[in-house]
Amino acid sequence: MSVYRVVYTSRPFGFDSGTLNGILVHAQRANASVGITGALICREDVYLQLLEGPEEEVKKTIARIKRDDRHLEFTTHVEKTVSERSFGRWAMLHDPAATWIWSRDAVRNGAIEHATAAEVDGFFQKLSDVNTA
Ligand SMILES: Cc1cc2nc3c(=O)[nH]c(=O)nc-3n(C[C@H](O)[C@H](O)[C@H](O)COP(=O)(O)O)c2cc1C
Repeated sequence: MSVYRVVYTSRPFGFDSGTLNGILVHAQRANASVGITGALICREDVYLQLLEGPEEEVKKTIARIKRDDRHLEFTTHVEKTVSERSFGRWAMLHDPAATWIWSRDAVRNGAIEHATAAEVDGFFQKLSDVNTA
C-alpha cells in the first residue's frame, strides 16, 4: 500500500517544554487513531516534522497543524507518495537532539529558505536509520 508523506519546517512560537509536551501527547494520540506515523525534530529555532500515512488523513492533519499558532512560517518541503513508511513504529517520534539538521548559525543565515527536498529527506533518513538499527 502506498504511503503519503509530507515534510515541513516552521519556526516555534512560545517554545517551552510544556508546550512541546502538549503537542506531542496530542499528536501521538490523534495520529495513532488515523494511521499516521512520523517524527518531529525540535529545537528552539526550528521544527521539522515528517508525517506519513493515508493521503486524506495526512492532508487533514497538516491543515490543522498549519493553522496552529504555536509556530510560524510553515513551509512544505516534501509532499509525495512513497512505497513504505520510515517511522512505522512511532505515532510521532520526538527527536530533541536535532543532531543531523542545520546548525543554529545556518538557520539564522537562511538554511530553511534554501532547503531542498533531498536535504530535508536526508535528515529524516538518518533519524530513521539510527532508530530502526
Ligand atoms: C509543531 C507541531 C506539530 C504538531 N503535530 C501534530 C501531529 O502530528 N498530529 C496532530 O494531530 N496534531 C499535531 N499538532 C497539533 C495540531 O496543530 C492541533 O493543535 C491539533 O491537531 C488540534 O487541532 P484542533 O484544535 O483543530 O482539533 C502539532 C502542532 C504543532 C505546533
